[in-house]
Amino acid sequence: MFLKLVFMLFFLVTFVASEDSSFIYNGFQSSHLYLDGIAELTSDGLLRLTNDTGPDTAYAFYPNHIVFKNTSNASVSSFSTTFVFTIKSMYPSISGHGIVFVLSPTKGLPNSLPNQYFGLFNYSNIGNSSNHVFGVELDTRKNFEFDDINDNHVGIDINDLKSANSTPAGYYDDTGRFRNLSLTSGHPMQVWIEYDGVKKKIDVTLAPVSVGFSHKPTQPTLSLTKDLSPILNNRMYVGFSSSTGFIAASHYIHGWSFMVNGQSQNLEISDLPGERVFAEKKKSKFLTVRLPLILLSLVFIITLGVMYYIKLKKFDEVLEDWEHEYGPHRFKFKDLYSATKGFREKGILGVGGFGKVYKGVIPSSKLQVAVKRVSHESRQGIREFVSEIVSIGRLRHRNLVQLYGYCRRKSELLLVYDYMPNGSLDNYLFNQPKVRLNWSQRFRIIKGIASGVVYLHEEWEKVVIHRDIKASNVLLDSEFNSRLGDFGLSRLYDHGADPHTTHLAGTIGYLAPEHIRTEVRFLRQKM
Ligand SMILES: *[C@@H]1O[C@H](CO)[C@@H](O)[C@H](O)[C@H]1NC(C)=O
Ligand SMILES: *[C@@H]1O[C@H](CO)[C@@H](O)[C@H](O)[C@H]1NC(C)=O
Ligand SMILES: *[C@@H]1O[C@H](CO)[C@@H](O)[C@H](O)[C@H]1NC(C)=O
Ligand SMILES: *[C@@H]1O[C@H](CO)[C@@H](O)[C@H](O)[C@H]1NC(C)=O
Repeated sequence: MFLKLVFMLFFLVTFVASEDSSFIYNGFQSSHLYLDGIAELTSDGLLRLTNDTGPDTAYAFYPNHIVFKNTSNASVSSFSTTFVFTIKSMYPSISGHGIVFVLSPTKGLPNSLPNQYFGLFNYSNIGNSSNHVFGVELDTRKNFEFDDINDNHVGIDINDLKSANSTPAGYYDDTGRFRNLSLTSGHPMQVWIEYDGVKKKIDVTLAPVSVGFSHKPTQPTLSLTKDLSPILNNRMYVGFSSSTGFIAASHYIHGWSFMVNGQSQNLEISDLPGERVFAEKKKSKFLTVRLPLILLSLVFIITLGVMYYIKLKKFDEVLEDWEHEYGPHRFKFKDLYSATKGFREKGILGVGGFGKVYKGVIPSSKLQVAVKRVSHESRQGIREFVSEIVSIGRLRHRNLVQLYGYCRRKSELLLVYDYMPNGSLDNYLFNQPKVRLNWSQRFRIIKGIASGVVYLHEEWEKVVIHRDIKASNVLLDSEFNSRLGDFGLSRLYDHGADPHTTHLAGTIGYLAPEHIRTEVRFLRQKM
């Protein structure tokens, strides 16, 4: 009992394994096809059924049988196949004879004749229903014996070479117009053969293969309604038969796929072995695959380059030779940009006559700073101005806002100050302030500013005249100590030099009255 089961299992496995229902050859390299007659595979994987000798026969069959029905009385299953072929001939108009796709009870058809017999039949068996041969012929000779319609036609043959139906070679294009094809043109063409086991209908479709591409027309070239059930045996071999006459032709198959009960797989047209057309398609592969890739990478590289350039431009600074001595006081624009998160509106601390002030944190040192952007159009005097800034940066007093340094860009000067958490004094004096300062705080603020002014005027190595001491320029640190800020309008004077040599600047009303007078007097003198 156990042995019997093992045997049955073994039988089942081998039985199933030997049942092929589909296959595909995109070229025939190492394909194990059964070849007979003069058929051979070329070194590049092309199936050459015949060459320029004749008369001769050639056969190429799939090595295993295919099951088309399970019992003799059952209906034949649907099947479909497609292949790409080329017929080349020295004398296209008289060469013969063509290619037949064939279903036959045997691998190859022994005792059959070449020439117009296509290697399918001989004188005695042609037309016999016992042949069980189904074929689709691509016939390049007009043979009166078999009632051929012309020397360039497609026919469906059943046990006979008098076709059950035939039509001139061609195809219906997308507009439904019939287009002639010349089978012996030397150009590759694709054939689709489909049998519908339910409708009992055979469709044969042709189309030219153009530069590595083929498109199956929706309307078949040739159809025949015929039940193949009585014609085909349960098991059949599928393949090609070809024959030549005295004036021979070369018949090639480039690729082939087949399936029972389903749609045969599409061939990779552009990968098929072959000559001219398939060589051209290699170029087209360059055009369709590589060139776009190259272009894409070029675009990518250019984009990267442009982005890098924009980034460079974005952080572009003006740095001249004479500035190198101020190195420690110079900030990188990139650092200020990231410190202020790109000078965003939310970070604005205040807006003055000379520009906006932004809050920022220097990324490397985590130092809280206030960055003032001042626009300067003229390059003249900038050297002197920067030198002033740097010397102001050397001022150290607990009642002055520390200037850390500067940065120059095209038409901008950026001044980096110590950040004052409690803002400017005017916020505590005007417009209904939230926090009211008491008198001792106010007094301390006034004393602080006075102390800062004394330092500027008397105690430092140079005389610094602020000229714009007002509530908005008095800043408050975290402990409400007052600090004099914004030296943007200040001018430096050497001790003892004439204070009248600079222009009037500052807010009228906050300048010392005598300072205005002396300045105005100076201007009058000049006129
Ligand atoms: C054609 O095929 C036959 C048989 O394979 C061979 O002997 C002959 O040399 C071939 N002729 C050419 C031109 O390739
Ligand atoms: C097949 O059909 C024939 C005629 O219809 C019948 O005589 C025969 O018994 C059938 N055979 C099978 C295996 O069904
Ligand atoms: C024709 O072919 C059949 C089938 O192969 C064979 O039995 C028969 O002997 C052949 N006849 C001749 C005359 O070759
Ligand atoms: C197409 O072929 C048919 C028959 O072979 C012929 O009558 C017809 O003129 C051809 N048409 C064209 C456009 O070549």
